[in-house]
Amino acid sequence: MALDIVIMAAGKGTRMKSARPKVLHRLAGRSLLQHVLQTASTLGADRIVTITGHGADEVESSVSAPNLQFVRQMPQLGTGHAVQQAAPLLHDDGTTLILNGDVPLIEAATARALIESCDGGKLALLTIRLADPSGYGRVLRGDPAGRDANEGGRVRGIVEHKDATPVQRMVDEVYTGMMAAPTAALKGWLARLTNENAQGEFYLTDIVAMAVADGVPVVATHPASETEVLGVNSPSQLADLERRFQRTQAESLMEAGLRLADPARFDLRGELVCANDVEIDVNCVFEGRVTLGEGVRIGANCVLRNAAIAAGAVIHPFTHIDGETLGVKVGAGAAVGPFARLRPGADLGEQVHIGNFVEVKNSTLAKGAKANHLAYLGDATVGERVNYGAGSITANYDGANKHRTVIGRDVHVGSNCVLVAPVTLGDGATIGAGSTISKDAPAGQLTVARAKQVSLPGWTRPKK
Ligand code: UD1
Ligand code: MG
Repeated sequence: MALDIVIMAAGKGTRMKSARPKVLHRLAGRSLLQHVLQTASTLGADRIVTITGHGADEVESSVSAPNLQFVRQMPQLGTGHAVQQAAPLLHDDGTTLILNGDVPLIEAATARALIESCDGGKLALLTIRLADPSGYGRVLRGDPAGRDANEGGRVRGIVEHKDATPVQRMVDEVYTGMMAAPTAALKGWLARLTNENAQGEFYLTDIVAMAVADGVPVVATHPASETEVLGVNSPSQLADLERRFQRTQAESLMEAGLRLADPARFDLRGELVCANDVEIDVNCVFEGRVTLGEGVRIGANCVLRNAAIAAGAVIHPFTHIDGETLGVKVGAGAAVGPFARLRPGADLGEQVHIGNFVEVKNSTLAKGAKANHLAYLGDATVGERVNYGAGSITANYDGANKHRTVIGRDVHVGSNCVLVAPVTLGDGATIGAGSTISKDAPAGQLTVARAKQVSLPGWTRPKK
């Protein structure tokens, strides 16, 4: 039997007060809609149909999932109208799961339970009891007057907040916006929807009463936690969900042994893989895929993206590491920062030291090399035990092309040198401070390239 998933994502999100379509706002580095798609992808659907409307071009080009198709809903005449647009793409002999593009944290297990409750022939609603149910569609149960509405009677229908009577508004069981339905019956109900209600919209929720009238059983299942069904309508709700999600990630990493100084000041926007005895101080942000080897310590206020840090390395506070697509590698026992910047292709060997205000890009540093202060290494190959002086830079870009600098092992580059690439410094070479090196420097020798110091006896300062 086929499983199709419909994700509603055509709404505007007026309260976000943003030019960006609501479902493209980010939670933990991924768009709201991409979160839903990622969960949907694990359910083995034959088709995932996403309904777009506001900002459709942008939405459609920003997300991806296997078996994903888009259907446009223009104009947006309500949730029932939205699903009507998808109907022609749904397989008659199967189940349709309906999700919301702005409810990002729905769990796969909850969605699966909903599909199981549908069991091919029932209408299964995901509902929850809320302390403050206002604004939501209320689940009506029991007798038609709603007298035993909250006492577990059979589901009779859903009434939208704006259409509800004061008595109905007292019901605290709400519809979360997610359901699973037998597809053929769903199509029949959709065809019969009208927009005679307080908002003049085609309500998807009206199909519940139709199912009851047709004698189709209506069942309700519930999410494991409220967080799963919270939608995003405003910046404040987005921030609240972000913190909830971060807290969950932090808890599961701590269960695996990670020592976080403060889980409330931790942000993971991607995947973090930690070996044993890793410590992370406050206010660090991890993006993309980051791996931390055994005993790694990350100081306060660091940002790491697409990087692999080997065992025993220490990243001191305020360090920015961004591997972009090439990645960054930090070797075992290395020390980086404070205030260091590692860019794509920085590959530090064991015991390398990178100090404050040092930038490394597309460069390999062999075991024990050091650049401790105020330096730039770009497109360089640096040998073992090199000491790269304060204020020295590789001039790797001639305005059109990038060139490499090769520094042999045990080289000592004095302070404030400019290495004009392409250039090679032989093993054991010493470069005098303040040199501009534009020709290869031989191994084992002192090379100095700077004006000779002169002192002029008898010189007097000009007077006013
Ligand atoms: C809907 C439910 C309500 C439920 C609530 C849960 C209906 C009629 N009501 O109300 O019972 O308690 O969700 O959050 O379904 N959308 C479209 N096209 C449209 C209208 C909406 O794609 O024409 C999308 C929105 O982008 C959103 C979702 O459908 O992702 C829900 O729409 P929204 O307007 O938020 O519905 P509610 O009024 O909150
Ligand atoms: Mg809503």
